[in-house]
Amino acid sequence: MKYLVTGAAGFVGSNLCTRLLSDAANTVVGVDAFRDYYDPALKERNVRGLLAQPNFSLVRGDICSLNLDELLQGVDVVFHEAGQPGVRSSWGNSFSTYTHDNIEATQLLLEAVTRMDRALSRFVYASSSSVYGDAERYPTDESDRPGPKSPYGVTKLAAEHLCSLYAQAYSVPVVSLRYFTVYGPGQRPDMAFTKFLTAATEGTEIQIYGDGSQVREFTFISDIVEANIRSSYMDVPAGCVINLSGGSAVSVKEVIDEIRSMVERDLRVSFGAPVVGDVYRTGGSTERARKYLEWEPQVDIASGLRLQYGWVREARGI
Ligand code: UGA
Repeated sequence: MKYLVTGAAGFVGSNLCTRLLSDAANTVVGVDAFRDYYDPALKERNVRGLLAQPNFSLVRGDICSLNLDELLQGVDVVFHEAGQPGVRSSWGNSFSTYTHDNIEATQLLLEAVTRMDRALSRFVYASSSSVYGDAERYPTDESDRPGPKSPYGVTKLAAEHLCSLYAQAYSVPVVSLRYFTVYGPGQRPDMAFTKFLTAATEGTEIQIYGDGSQVREFTFISDIVEANIRSSYMDVPAGCVINLSGGSAVSVKEVIDEIRSMVERDLRVSFGAPVVGDVYRTGGSTERARKYLEWEPQVDIASGLRLQYGWVREARGI
């Protein structure tokens, strides 16, 4: 099978490529724009091992300006993991980056898929729990009304709608996966766990936005990768949207307690104002994921945090 993975140098994309390449019969073409939203050197580190593999090739560039017809030649499955992340940083003048990378890129990719001279077997879109905003109920069902609370969430939802539209109009075999706060080794440096664990390792201050009572259903990276793989070959109706929520709904304060007991020392923690755009709570029903993907999260928060802590220490040579 030949796979196209966009965002191949990112946290989810690079882990997905590694998993796909563990089967020697697979060929993977990765695409990444190496944007400087965070240190691009970290992305170079993510692809170092991949580049050493004969079945992997990397195309550096912006989806909106690459020759997508060429990129899609012979491809069986597209995993569209690329996007401009960052809930809290999507306010202000950077919004055009979000519309360009999240909406326009997705539309151009879907459009290119409709021009393919062979049928794609799956187009997996990496959506986000941020499309829900403060949800109507918990656990939140995929049919509950979305109401993003950040410009980022608006762009993820718009791209998801484009996916469903292309599924209806052109039978593109899309599945949109709503990721709930992904964590684990390789997590982006702007996300909570990497920041907290780095501060805990270096003895610097952990800054909590608000009083720490906000709740997230954190989802471990290997569970996300597994769901992507299953989405590529299991029987899911085109245009279907599926929650991937990790089964560990915990507050940020509880995460800090867990880290404190794990590192066995006191932490320096400060509490600031809540940040606009942050939802108070996420928590998704996994019923649909169970039905279509026979998927359930396997890694609990304590084990997952421990694995991420090991990675943070290793990166610092500890
Ligand atoms: C994450 C990702 O960044 C988004 O790309 C993704 O779409 C989203 O999950 C999602 O699942 O929809 P977020 O939940 O904000 O967004 O993830 P973290 O950065 O790990 O933050 C988790 C919680 O920790 C938030 O409530 C945040 O306010 C808090 N936090 C984060 C702090 O208190 N301090 C920090 O320094 C960082």
